[in-house]
Amino acid sequence: MEFTQPSLENLAGKKVKNKYWQSKVVLVTGYEGFLGSHLTKQLLSLGSKVIGLDIKTLRKTTILDKADLAKITIIKGSVTNYLLLRKILAKYQPEVVFHLAAEATVGSCLNKPLKAFSSNIEGTWKLLEACRQNPNLKSVVLASSDKAYGTKDKLPYYESDSLQGSHPYDVSKSCADLIARTYFETYNLPVSIVRCGNIYGPGDFNFSRLVPDAVLATIIDRPFLIRSSGQFTRDYIYVDDIVRGYLTLAEKMPNSKLSGQAFNFGAGKPISVIKLVEAIYSLSKKNPNYKILSEAKDEIQNQYLSTKKVQKLLGWKARVPLNTGLKKTITWYQNRLGL
Ligand SMILES: NC(=O)c1ccc[n+]([C@@H]2O[C@H](COP(=O)([O-])OP(=O)(O)OC[C@H]3O[C@@H](n4cnc5c(N)ncnc54)[C@H](O)[C@@H]3O)[C@@H](O)[C@H]2O)c1
Repeated sequence: MEFTQPSLENLAGKKVKNKYWQSKVVLVTGYEGFLGSHLTKQLLSLGSKVIGLDIKTLRKTTILDKADLAKITIIKGSVTNYLLLRKILAKYQPEVVFHLAAEATVGSCLNKPLKAFSSNIEGTWKLLEACRQNPNLKSVVLASSDKAYGTKDKLPYYESDSLQGSHPYDVSKSCADLIARTYFETYNLPVSIVRCGNIYGPGDFNFSRLVPDAVLATIIDRPFLIRSSGQFTRDYIYVDDIVRGYLTLAEKMPNSKLSGQAFNFGAGKPISVIKLVEAIYSLSKKNPNYKILSEAKDEIQNQYLSTKKVQKLLGWKARVPLNTGLKKTITWYQNRLGL
């Protein structure tokens, strides 16, 4: 089955309001995180009623403003709390669930594997089990990652590749991904899986990640420390493209054969750490000032994704070129940090 791009589309240059999301009750786990806050903002602007679950709520470091927060039904709690999840699903009866809550950085998972496995794996089986009790659900979308594929001799990653993470974050994503699969295969839950590359953009307050950390280094004029050899390659994708991908997938899942499947979302263009850092310095109009530490072990060296499947089945393609996305991101951090 082929789809044309349905969401937020321009017809003859005019913005068309997407009615699908109007008044829809949508549960977003991890709604205050980087991706969750962008997705929530977009859902609110499309008229959805967002139920936001997060272990940390009302933080200062989010792009959600007071007006956004006033529209969200905010629930503070963990995705590992099964009774809470049952209550939320029974009370609000969402039609769509985006499951983003996770210990979401490679470093935090390396340092705290128990927390990582609990939030990322146990949190997924408990959420999906709670979803299974809710017959009104039309689509559940799980945030997996390109890290779920682990190290491969041949790139790009295809959705049919085996999942073979080796390190804590990667393994937690391989496991969550497979658990979603069993909830479809065994219990017929309408769940699909997103495996995306490294997302960047405004509002990522995880300063252990490369883009926010490097942009901050350019702003406060400190040397940027590259943990790896600088030769590792990643598939960087702008956050707006990913939000559009999630919405498109969830919207198309009912009455289609998309449930139970995994989808890669990326720019399909690998770039090395050094090249990315140099681009950030150049766009910030600063002389490169970085040190290579070559300390990073326990990380996949090279990654990028084939997006043939999403292009064909969802009509999705990355739209924001790297330089454009980086410029917007740098400007946002400069303004936010008051410089
Ligand atoms: N950012 C990326 O580059 C990227 C790439 C691929 C996949 N992902 C996945 O996308 C999802 C969102 O990532 P992000 O970049 O927004 O990360 P993030 O850390 O900014 O957001 C994760 C959110 O989950 C919340 N959370 C953590 N543990 C929880 C728990 N037990 N119960 C409830 N909430 C909990 C956190 O408080 C946070 O708000 C994650 O599942 C991540 O693995 C992210």
